[in-house]
Amino acid sequence: MLDDLEKIEAIDKERMRDFLLEFPLHCKRARRLAEEYPIPKELSKKKEKIIICGLGGSAIGGEILKTLLHHQEDVAVFINRNYSLPELAGRNTLIFAVSYSGNTEETLAAYKEARKRGCPIFCISSGGELRRRSEEDGVPCLVIPSGMPPRCALGYLFIPMLRVLERANWLRPYDYEELFQVLIDLRDRLSPSVPTRENLAKEAAIDLYGKIPLIWGVEGRTDAVAHRLKTQFNENSKILAFWDVFPELNHNEIVGWGGEGEIDLKNFYPIFIREKGEEEKIRKRIKVTQSLLEKVGIKGKEIWTEGRDLLPKILSSIYTGDWISFYLALIQGIDPTPVEPIDLLKRKLSQDP
Ligand code: PA5
Repeated sequence: MLDDLEKIEAIDKERMRDFLLEFPLHCKRARRLAEEYPIPKELSKKKEKIIICGLGGSAIGGEILKTLLHHQEDVAVFINRNYSLPELAGRNTLIFAVSYSGNTEETLAAYKEARKRGCPIFCISSGGELRRRSEEDGVPCLVIPSGMPPRCALGYLFIPMLRVLERANWLRPYDYEELFQVLIDLRDRLSPSVPTRENLAKEAAIDLYGKIPLIWGVEGRTDAVAHRLKTQFNENSKILAFWDVFPELNHNEIVGWGGEGEIDLKNFYPIFIREKGEEEKIRKRIKVTQSLLEKVGIKGKEIWTEGRDLLPKILSSIYTGDWISFYLALIQGIDPTPVEPIDLLKRKLSQDP
């Protein structure tokens, strides 16, 4: 059915495919937005720490930023996915408060605490309470387009953080032209009009049907990718999925793959996030791990990053994963957009005492 565009339209009622097709454009527009935003005084002097406060689709950009900064600079980066800030947050900590809707209560609480502690704050939101409060408090807020599921707005939620830091000379600028090109090439290979036999994302979705994906990245390189793919399988495909990283998983998870325990390993599907030119020690670990899996009859799949720089590498493999989770929803006859349990939970939390 993945090659039948009418069927795709019938299932993908809320047109997630349009947002996916537009992802390279979102990244371009997000860069432009950040280019036009006046650099606030909060960023004029480099701080020791950055904390990105956000949840779900609004947090993953923070993880990408953390990975990029891990390789570049002497700033410590933390992700905060809870109501309160870590004790170390103070005047020398830049807070990015990121919420697509602007109404996520954990992020709003962290924002409030950051104000109390005198932390410099930069907000990113499409509106809601976060935008309202930041305007009232005179806190910089980059407003991004509304009307998307938060997870489809990754370009807008992530690129502005990176670009404002570059413009404020906190880190060397990335090559965005390479990024845009890599994403456009990928879009042209993975979009619904490309038939399954030539479309890696459709093929992967078919292989994954009925299985639980375990996505394995590499710490400090592709952990954000593995985490993002897990959440996309949860929200788009409506299935359970788990993620881990090399080398850590070699120190525990592989024991579960030994075949001794009484579970059916065939229910699981490992996905390796691979990088051309990955460290030799990591390459060897992956190879040995794959041979252990073969012993219990499991093959798994490899998703290769694209591009030269770490930025396109991360976003290209995320983009590939987004398409796979989208197609996996369709094969199951599921509209990838609605996330009823999340909406229900948020409604309940706002009502119950
Ligand atoms: O994908 C989703 O809808 C969620 O993961 C949201 O991103 C999460 O609940 C936080 O909401 P928001 O991004 O509006 O702050």
